[in-house]
Amino acid sequence: MIKKFENEKHLLKNELMDRLHKEFLDIYNGVDLNSIQSIKNKLIELYKHTQKHFELEEELMDNIDYPTKREHKDEHAKVLSEMNYFINMNPTIFGKNIMKAYYIEKLPYWFDAHLISMDSDLASYSRNQMKIISV
Ligand SMILES: [Fe+2]
Ligand SMILES: [Fe+2]
Repeated sequence: MIKKFENEKHLLKNELMDRLHKEFLDIYNGVDLNSIQSIKNKLIELYKHTQKHFELEEELMDNIDYPTKREHKDEHAKVLSEMNYFINMNPTIFGKNIMKAYYIEKLPYWFDAHLISMDSDLASYSRNQMKIISV
């Protein structure tokens, strides 16, 4: 399964965020969907990467005093706890199928939705702040 980084949809023209988002998809695409163990390993890898990804975005929010940082940080916390929930899901057949469905359907949907809404807003706000500072 390959989920491509699509410039029109994903590129936010913020060097840090674009790098983090590309790294996320690189890890995501490395999965072998025929193996539950591989899905779980990738989820763990994505969880660790996402912790760092969110920390860096949140640092940026604090630095520029981003007005809707509360909502954005809440959304980050929600996603991390969701990932954690699926990583620790009981390894029954049902649990495995749910984890696989989360990986295939929910995660990429979340990725698109989050970049299009919250992250693109953060990137453009940050750009405007930099312009104000440099004037
Ligand atoms: Fe992001
Ligand atoms: Fe974000």
